[in-house]
Amino acid sequence: MTETTLTPVSVIGLGAMGSALATALLKAGHSTTVWNRSAEKAEALSEQGASRAATVVEAVQASPLVIVCVLDHTIMHELLDPLGEGLAGRVLVNLTTGTPKQAREAGAWAATMKTTYLDGAIMATPPMIGQPEAFLLYSGSEQAYEAHEATLKRFGGASSYFGTDPGLASLYDIALLTSMYMSFAGFLYGAALVGTANVDATSFATFAEGVISGIVLGDMDETARQIDDGHYPDDASPLAMQAAGMQTFIKAFHDEGIDTTILEHLKGLTDRTVAAGHAEAGLASLIEQIRRHV
Ligand SMILES: NC(=O)c1ccc[n+]([C@@H]2O[C@H](COP(=O)([O-])OP(=O)(O)OC[C@H]3O[C@@H](n4cnc5c(N)ncnc54)[C@H](OP(=O)(O)O)[C@@H]3O)[C@@H](O)[C@H]2O)c1
Repeated sequence: MTETTLTPVSVIGLGAMGSALATALLKAGHSTTVWNRSAEKAEALSEQGASRAATVVEAVQASPLVIVCVLDHTIMHELLDPLGEGLAGRVLVNLTTGTPKQAREAGAWAATMKTTYLDGAIMATPPMIGQPEAFLLYSGSEQAYEAHEATLKRFGGASSYFGTDPGLASLYDIALLTSMYMSFAGFLYGAALVGTANVDATSFATFAEGVISGIVLGDMDETARQIDDGHYPDDASPLAMQAAGMQTFIKAFHDEGIDTTILEHLKGLTDRTVAAGHAEAGLASLIEQIRRHV
């Protein structure tokens, strides 16, 4: 089923993100009802044509599609739990940041309310909302996503649906952001090291970009294949050799007075992977130890 008319939408939570979501709906011509704890944040949206609900109940009653975007899941539950069956029959799209576990719990909770649940994660800032490149991740009810895909794409043209497990959107979001943080951290550590010889980060970036795009991104498909196969063949740069190199790197960072914690952690992972029998394998085999919670 796809949308043939513009679905009326209610937005609960008008912080920086909720306001941007409501604005995108109004711009697209949706009948939009808004509610926020601090009522004054609804004023600007009201001037753009939004209807102001006096209570959360009123907001939920106003539209078949309800978006909630507040600070965290605890607040989302404080606002919506008291409604009980008042949420029945609604499609609830929760764009409040949460863990995969919280998203799954919210999915189970919504089912007890006879509410169709979609969880979402927003990989965009408020000014990006409404742009074709903005990326929002959704998981949960497939039927709800298909029915409201066009409306949800008002928030970001690059949005995607990941599957019926409500935790998937959050899992992907956190996994992608973790990849981003780790990539940035690698560059920052490199820049700090060359900086000890007064090399500026801009000069370093020229070379770091080549290594990251050539080696890291160039090898990603093969790394992913080894992970998926659970098979780590002998590598031209075996882990046993890399572990020795890492020890030298740690000494270099230490000698130059730079933080060594991340490298020490990586060396620990590498040593444990070697000890587990992957001395001749490549870096992909580290995932075996990363999967273990120590
Ligand atoms: N901003 C971003 O760049 C960004 C990016 C991705 C995801 N997100 C996610 O989007 C969600 C909202 O973020 P935001 O940027 O809009 O944050 P925000 O500007 O700080 O707004 C927080 C919202 O939560 C409401 N709230 C806080 N405590 C409340 C309570 N006890 N009872 C009722 N309402 C309460 C606030 O209401 P009041 O106005 O009354 O305080 C406001 O509507 C978060 O989960 C955030 O992680 C944000």
